[in-house]
Amino acid sequence: MDKATQLLETVSELTKRGKGILAADESTPTISKRLQALNIDSSESTRRTYRNLLFTTPGINQFLNGIILFEETLFQKTDEGTVVPDFLRKHQIMSGIKVDKGLVPLTNADGDTITQGLDGLADRLRQYREAGACFAKWREVYRISEHNPTSLGLRSNAEVLARYAAMCQEQLMVPIVEPEVLMDGDHSMARCSEVSEAVLTSVFEALHAHHVLLEAVVLKPSMILPGKSSSHKALPELVASETMKVLSRTVPAAIPSINFLSGGQSATEATANLQALNAKYPKAPWRLSFSYSRALQAPVMAAWAGKESNRKLAQGIFARRVELNGLACRAEYDS
Ligand code: 13P
Repeated sequence: MDKATQLLETVSELTKRGKGILAADESTPTISKRLQALNIDSSESTRRTYRNLLFTTPGINQFLNGIILFEETLFQKTDEGTVVPDFLRKHQIMSGIKVDKGLVPLTNADGDTITQGLDGLADRLRQYREAGACFAKWREVYRISEHNPTSLGLRSNAEVLARYAAMCQEQLMVPIVEPEVLMDGDHSMARCSEVSEAVLTSVFEALHAHHVLLEAVVLKPSMILPGKSSSHKALPELVASETMKVLSRTVPAAIPSINFLSGGQSATEATANLQALNAKYPKAPWRLSFSYSRALQAPVMAAWAGKESNRKLAQGIFARRVELNGLACRAEYDS
């Protein structure tokens, strides 16, 4: 089988209708912050216990095609003694891996950032594939201000995303391309649209320039929302129409699936907005699905609170959130 055929097979498994992707790939500093905010100690063992709780929740494979892991998790074992990717495969869930190494300031770009991790990436991808990962994730971040992102920031971040995506496909891994436009700030929805349109335009230009096979890419963008500290709140109908306007102007129909990040929306907002998108646009050229971290996990981690006695309760909450988002992918969620 040639490379393209193999990649297309993987992406079709990863984007099956009515299901999404769980992002459980928080870096160690990020998950530690979230655990410590709930007074839970962050050690390799607590992180394993918590993530094990997520992965072993019964029934989640009805609504999840894949789970993105952090490197530490890829090599950990579940309670039954199987390595995580084998356990997930046994339950028809694909394993993915976050391969970027986080943000640094982009020099001479007025506060824009750039993501590190391209050096040695091909070797790491090979190792991850051997360990059972079939897809990867890379996140570039765009902060909105009056002058950010700069044109240098747009160009540089897009270039890095495209180089990552090309390397993934070379190593037979499906790339999730994540250009996150942050919700932080008091900007309007119109400003979020303007920035997102520029971001996605630059990303697809770069993907083209690097000959990335678009049919084997999953796009993971932000929804169009007013800034978190602005006085406006947008109802799901409006989020759906503004998001669709930007996506339809920028994302080629060759892309099989758009799996949104939650980006700081509450769990219920993220589900309601996804529902509105699918209800309003049943004929969109791409699947409209989710790849949430916080919107799936925040209530679960809080219910667990680091206590074994809360495990069942936390799993029940997780199963429910996964199910509701799966229903939203089918336009069947009723708030
Ligand atoms: P959130 O859904 O919490 O935004 O996280 C998604 C993600 O994977 C960020 O890289």
